[in-house]
Amino acid sequence: MKGVLLSGGTGSRLRPITHTGPKQLVPVANKPVLEYAIEDLKEAGITEIGVILGNKGRDEIQDLLGDGSKYGAEITYIVQGNPLGLAHAAGCARDFVGDDDFVMYLGDNILKSGVTDLVKSFQAGDYGAGIALQEVDDPQAFGIVNVDGEGKITELIEKPDDPPTNLALIGMYIFSPAIFDAIDNLKPSWRGELEITDAIQSLLEDGHAIDSHVVTGWWKDTGKPEDILEANRLVLEEMALTTAGVIEDGAEVNGRIELDQSSTIKSGAVVRGPVSIAENTTIKSGTYVGPYSSIGANSTLKNIHIENSVVIGDSQITADGRIVDSLLGRNANVESAAELLPEGRRLVVGENSQLKL
Ligand code: DAU
Repeated sequence: MKGVLLSGGTGSRLRPITHTGPKQLVPVANKPVLEYAIEDLKEAGITEIGVILGNKGRDEIQDLLGDGSKYGAEITYIVQGNPLGLAHAAGCARDFVGDDDFVMYLGDNILKSGVTDLVKSFQAGDYGAGIALQEVDDPQAFGIVNVDGEGKITELIEKPDDPPTNLALIGMYIFSPAIFDAIDNLKPSWRGELEITDAIQSLLEDGHAIDSHVVTGWWKDTGKPEDILEANRLVLEEMALTTAGVIEDGAEVNGRIELDQSSTIKSGAVVRGPVSIAENTTIKSGTYVGPYSSIGANSTLKNIHIENSVVIGDSQITADGRIVDSLLGRNANVESAAELLPEGRRLVVGENSQLKL
């Protein structure tokens, strides 16, 4: 069994955060989303991984993952270029996959339970594909399956206007090489993409058995800023957090804190976990870092009260104010304008930013 990890696409729903980098590298609890997928594949015993690259962020992704050896994996890079659809991306992996079965993992998805059980179940039968499902509140935004009275899949539809169920395909699939013939015969969908959902539908019509599981633990497609914050909450809630850095006397720290050994919480700062603080970061006096926050590397926080937020890193946040439920991109700086006239907020706001003042 091989792994194919999709890291192309445009990341348009995460702009401006993704203007400069791929969405799969946005950190959750200070770790790029893509690394969770690699770890899940590794845990399922899959070490030969093909990483599909789009047009953007190829260098950053290769710099991070390298040849895979740091994860105990062997990574092959496959360039897809333009995001012509998930089935097109899978098709690009044909030579890499050869005659093997493979797990296709969407690089911006994160799943509590990993893929080990899905892989075992697929291997125990004779299936054309294995899919993972979860009930969602907004089925129009996903690939959806229809089922008969016995729970057997009867139809798969990509982002239907009138969804027959709220059972969504989540971003991990297992395929036999039969999927490649199905992909060869696909026509682009209404959104101009070759849909993997349509390819699985065609496997079904050709008489292949489809293994399906409703996944009960949490799953997040981190396509939108609020999804990143929620994934960050879910991961911080469960992750083992290690405090290795310096907590000065006079700092108030409670709850579970991950503090890199090169980072410091200064006297007069308050940190309430669960919180993750990456390397070379200083939390200075007068700062409050509240639950479900991840503060990235090379940052300084002073005076600010921040909670339920993700600071990606390389940031100076020194304003005397409150930041909640926020995602701050790399190198974002927030300082106080208290001494400047005229009074008011001074903003340099990127395209597609969202501010609630
Ligand atoms: O998150 C689950 C959903 O993922 C499924 O329910 C849908 O059936 C499936 O089509 C997909 O929907 P999205 O519209 O959310 O997919 P998105 O365009 O966000 O792409 C998912 C990942 O695949 C993302 O990491 C980018 C990458 N990708 C995407 C395309 C279209 C590629 O590598 N190449 C591509 O051509």
